[in-house]
Amino acid sequence: MPDRKPLISGNWKMNLNHFEALKLVQELSYQVSTDDIEVVDISLHPPFTDIRTVQTVLEADRLPFHLGAQHCYHEDSGAFTGEVSAGMLSKLNVSYVLAGHSERREVFGESDEMVNLKVKAILKNEMLPILCCGETLEEREADEAESKVAGQIVAGLSGLSPEQVGSMVCAYEPIWAIGTGKTASSEDAQSMCAVVRQTVRENFGDEAADAVRIQYGGSVKPDNAPELMSQPDIDGALVGGACLEAESFGRIIQYRLVEAE
Ligand code: PGA
Repeated sequence: MPDRKPLISGNWKMNLNHFEALKLVQELSYQVSTDDIEVVDISLHPPFTDIRTVQTVLEADRLPFHLGAQHCYHEDSGAFTGEVSAGMLSKLNVSYVLAGHSERREVFGESDEMVNLKVKAILKNEMLPILCCGETLEEREADEAESKVAGQIVAGLSGLSPEQVGSMVCAYEPIWAIGTGKTASSEDAQSMCAVVRQTVRENFGDEAADAVRIQYGGSVKPDNAPELMSQPDIDGALVGGACLEAESFGRIIQYRLVEAE
């Protein structure tokens, strides 16, 4: 069984100003122990305006969280009003950047091609992409979930080397489970994460498939995290709503303590 260290990521979305960010990070630091960090990687993905503040507190207090971002633009610089480049994020010691979150795809019209350019820009700037994929309820009911997800993975990873793919993270997030309180059953989540891994295997080989970390996202909460995380192809969670409170995010990070009870 390949050794993949789980990654639990908190996607803050468009929530919390930089004062509130500071408070949440400090509260979270009291929840999380050094034992947790040995077995789980944790990334925090605040809005752009909070990133410098969070970076400063993580470094000053030596807090064991990886800094993340939710988005970037693929060009290095230029006349792209409102955008932030991958290079700007890497200068702030950002380690992980989301790419292709369904809200970016659906609300901001990001295509598979744009997501692929973004993935490449993130890797070029020595950060790791978290490539998100997932189907709508209509697609699931029409039995198209697997083809949709496999297609997003193939398109998002196009042109990468097996080593690059093996280093990064994919997140399966069924759109109908995001922010709705409806979680995929652990069987469905497992079987779709297995589809993601199989797609990587077919396109990039065994090493990449065994190394790539695959998260589940969509209404992850402290009570469903242990069962989701016990699935063989689920190597972490991408958490939205439940990451905005230190207590609930801390309990998700400590999913294994519940499991052991
Ligand atoms: P949720 O969001 O946990 O609030 O469902 C997950 C996500 O969108 O990443």
